[in-house]
Amino acid sequence: MIVVTGGAGFIGSNFVLDWLASSDEPVVTVDLLTYAGNRDNLKSLDGDPRHTLVQADICDRAAMDRVLAEHQPRAVLHFAAESHVDRSILGPSAFIKTNVEGTFTLLEASRAYWSALSAERQAAFRFLHVSTDEVYGSLGPQDPAFVETRAYEPNSPYSASKAASDHLVRAWHHTYDLPVLTTNCSNNYGPLQFPEKLIPLMIVKARSGDPLPVYGDGMNVRDWLYVTDHCSAIREVLARGRLGETYNVGGWNEKPNIEIVQTICRLLDELAPDPKGSHSRLITYVKDRPGHDRRYAIDAHKIERELGWRPAETFETGIRKTIEWYLANEAWVSRITSGAYRDWLDDNYGKRGN
Ligand code: NAD
Ligand code: TYD
Repeated sequence: MIVVTGGAGFIGSNFVLDWLASSDEPVVTVDLLTYAGNRDNLKSLDGDPRHTLVQADICDRAAMDRVLAEHQPRAVLHFAAESHVDRSILGPSAFIKTNVEGTFTLLEASRAYWSALSAERQAAFRFLHVSTDEVYGSLGPQDPAFVETRAYEPNSPYSASKAASDHLVRAWHHTYDLPVLTTNCSNNYGPLQFPEKLIPLMIVKARSGDPLPVYGDGMNVRDWLYVTDHCSAIREVLARGRLGETYNVGGWNEKPNIEIVQTICRLLDELAPDPKGSHSRLITYVKDRPGHDRRYAIDAHKIERELGWRPAETFETGIRKTIEWYLANEAWVSRITSGAYRDWLDDNYGKRGN
């Protein structure tokens, strides 16, 4: 069986659902169920004997020891994190706690567990750390895309805390021989993403007829990957990745933010027309994010060359599926756009102005 931390969040829950759709190997999800973790994401697994949800903090060493001792996993897949850049700007301490101290605690619990395994089970064990392309910093318009050997230059409290966690994972391999793998992926989108990130935020706001807040000039560039493609990349790296290596994962799909928002508006005009007019009338430029990285781009040749992985979805197929999912799941959206969510919108957008 495998342990998945952060399995009630966006990517983690997509990973758990995909895993159990194609395998009978049981999963234990370890999740603190912060604002970003949602039991509803795993609701379809209620009563499924292959899945167990443990509500626990990855910073809690005794709880991590108990999970590993009780369930005896062959792998720990580490998704749990504070993941939103804007939240890291307004309140960095939770990022240091979960992303740095939590990863450290999980590494130590995993090392103690792994050290006591038989030689055969030690050799088969994997600690797979899920990280981000943001650790590499920001690119100019003509710079080559990020390769795995690029120096780390994180610019936000979020990316700095993820960079720190990547370094810890690397050191636990180098020093203690813990069998680790790291993936650094670009921006994900798809079903079950909390509507604080660009794509679901714009869909939810456009549906309510609210302004669509584009930071700065809208020309910051991200590479976008449909979430199930990230999940398949992680399965490949887990199965066949070389120990101690990092693998960049991306969609070969760089786009400026304004183009993403215009595409969402166009598809909503087609799939859920608003009698008041095109959704693009709602686009509003607002004050930029401090320290906003200009461009991310992923060179995903290594994972293709070594593991034969390429994304299955194009942006056109993925964004359409994503919008269709949000339109079909408005009850999921309304359950999480609660008081606390509205407070977040006030904190982050209240003082930006036009
Ligand atoms: P998310 O915010 O949707 O989910 C994070 C999950 O971790 C939530 O379920 C939350 O409850 C849980 N969690 C938070 N703190 C915890 C703690 N102390 N103990 C236990 N559980 C805790 O994030 P996501 O977008 O699904 O990202 C998952 C991972 O992938 C993160 O490590 C993130 O850095 C990485 N990543 C995300 C993206 C992206 O575009 N979303 C891209 C590349 C990498
Ligand atoms: P986001 O989804 O927060 O991911 P990240 O910052 O980790 O890349 O943001 C994606 C891009 O969209 C980023 O350049 C910031 C921009 N953005 C907006 O323009 N408006 C918004 O309201 C949000 C949340 C993001």
